[in-house]
Amino acid sequence: MRNYILSPSILSADFTRLGQDVRETDEAGAQYIHIDVMDGAFVPSISFGMPVIKSLRAVTRKVFDVHLMIEDPQRYIQAFADCGADLITVHAEACTHLDRVLSMIRDLGLKTGVALNPATPLCMLDHVLGKTDMVLLMTVNPGFGGQKYIPEMTAKIAALRALLDERGLDIDIEVDGGISPANLDTVLEAGANVIVAGSAVFAKDEITERTKKMLGIMEEFAKRR
Ligand code: DX5
Ligand code: ZN
Repeated sequence: MRNYILSPSILSADFTRLGQDVRETDEAGAQYIHIDVMDGAFVPSISFGMPVIKSLRAVTRKVFDVHLMIEDPQRYIQAFADCGADLITVHAEACTHLDRVLSMIRDLGLKTGVALNPATPLCMLDHVLGKTDMVLLMTVNPGFGGQKYIPEMTAKIAALRALLDERGLDIDIEVDGGISPANLDTVLEAGANVIVAGSAVFAKDEITERTKKMLGIMEEFAKRR
């Protein structure tokens, strides 16, 4: 049985009340907290870093799903482990030595994720799947919350799930960008099982209701399978 996991992205939370926002989605049932770190080099924007993650660690015990949109992430793996990351995802495009970075993450006892931008082909994963716990498929170009889902990504998700099944690999597929109740079924049907949602959970009030709505759709889907 595949696990279906919601990972709300705090990038769209209200930073003046970040702790409360995270607590609310946690109590509503979200299993992960998605933490987008941006360096202004790999992506145009700069978001936040270690001190924010460290402070949030006191608020929730949920899995910290840290998505590093930074150049040469191997410089900071230890630092993100120290501030409370449980799962660290690096972009294949940002690592000269991807295999080494994944080993570093695993050696620290954490889970590994490899992220691919929309235009990056799946063959980038060919030789690292043995060290990968989760593949993050970007379904928008990374850098900002609130963008529109790129429809071509549905076929990419399905192709990745087929490839993993063919090789008998039980690896999570996380989708990130533009996911809402309107297209959640589409990405689930295609084979995604870890769902990032930023604006769909945090953009307005009613975080509890919005979290539950996403979780409800995922539960229904799991029952139908
Ligand atoms: C985008 C980030 C996403 C973002 C998703 O670069 O990686 O995690 O917060 O936001 P939505 O769900 O609003 O597209
Ligand atoms: Zn993200």
